[in-house]
Amino acid sequence: MIRKLKDNMYEVGARDWDREVFDELIPLPDGTSYNSYVIFGSEKTALIDTVDSTKKDELINNLKTLDIKKLDYIVSNHSEQDHSGSIPYVLELFPESKVVTNEKAKGLLMEHLLIPEDKFFIIKDNETLSLGDKTLQFLISPWVHWPETMLTYLIEDKILFTCDFLGSHNASSSLFVSEEKKTYFDAKRYYAEIMMPFRTIIKKHISRVEALDVDYIAPSHGEVYDKPEFIINAYKEWISDDVKNLVIIPYVSMHDSTEEMVKRLIDELVKRNIKVKPFNLVNADIGEIAITLVDAATIIVGAPALLVGTHPAVISAVYLVNALRPKTKFVSIIGSYGWSTKLIEHITSLITNIKPEIINPVLTKGFPKAEDYKKIERLANDILEKHKSLNLI
Ligand code: FEO
Repeated sequence: MIRKLKDNMYEVGARDWDREVFDELIPLPDGTSYNSYVIFGSEKTALIDTVDSTKKDELINNLKTLDIKKLDYIVSNHSEQDHSGSIPYVLELFPESKVVTNEKAKGLLMEHLLIPEDKFFIIKDNETLSLGDKTLQFLISPWVHWPETMLTYLIEDKILFTCDFLGSHNASSSLFVSEEKKTYFDAKRYYAEIMMPFRTIIKKHISRVEALDVDYIAPSHGEVYDKPEFIINAYKEWISDDVKNLVIIPYVSMHDSTEEMVKRLIDELVKRNIKVKPFNLVNADIGEIAITLVDAATIIVGAPALLVGTHPAVISAVYLVNALRPKTKFVSIIGSYGWSTKLIEHITSLITNIKPEIINPVLTKGFPKAEDYKKIERLANDILEKHKSLNLI
């Protein structure tokens, strides 16, 4: 599939319609795409990013169909293999081509893809590269995901190629955003799963993007934004320090006791006009958990005791939350135990990257009883007061 972006510019990457999991971790309900863009300048031709090596044949066929006589540059905005994995195959087809990237990325590409050092053309931040009537400018943006990530700006056409940044996992046949509501959800999910750990660094780079005169934002996953303000404003909302009147309850229940506590807490929070989103960790979609973490003011972990700690699914979820670094303000724990209450320190010891206020947990021995329900009401009141203190309610 070759799609025209503008005159002398084509999207030549691949849709991975059937891919179900990314990084062996992230569910992909709508597959994904690896966008790759050819730019024909009056003197030189450049390719912006490539595709996952599993889709190399599609990219190579598209390049052959365009009948490119000479490919001068392969710009690598990001070294992760879903965008760089086909660089060696493109170099086989166009041995004269140079891989244009920054020094940090060169090292990664040499290590991961065994690309020889003499194939590289190294650029620095803000440097430009002429294609004749078109000029590429490179904005190195370390830790907008990886240490070597960069953006490429096509000055004359006002197109910003952002690779992972501002993208979404969606194998859409539409080149441009066609359903804003769906794209908003896909991009938010992508932000939550991939970009949220870098929220504070992204604040700086969003300002840099806003300062550019941009007509199109062309990521290497998902659809192209022909209204750049749509995704920039969405990101500004997500990376802000603002939270919503929302409690997320990831939980596991082994013998119904913790689930009973979760149900009671949900009732008590709803009575207090607090929005709640529970996730049974046995079969929860971690992407949906991540999306909820973008906005939630409070996380209540529902955790049964298991041996002298808690259930591994709870540990995995708390580990993930800590890694994603949401802007959560409050955390507490509810759960049932038989003989050990060590699960509280087991869980709190994993929360190191974020600094939420810990609200007094509620543990019950066995199935909850009248006095435990009172404690759950107390917890709901505490959450209400905390949310009121932030003017969320
Ligand atoms: Fe789409 Fe970080 O790779």
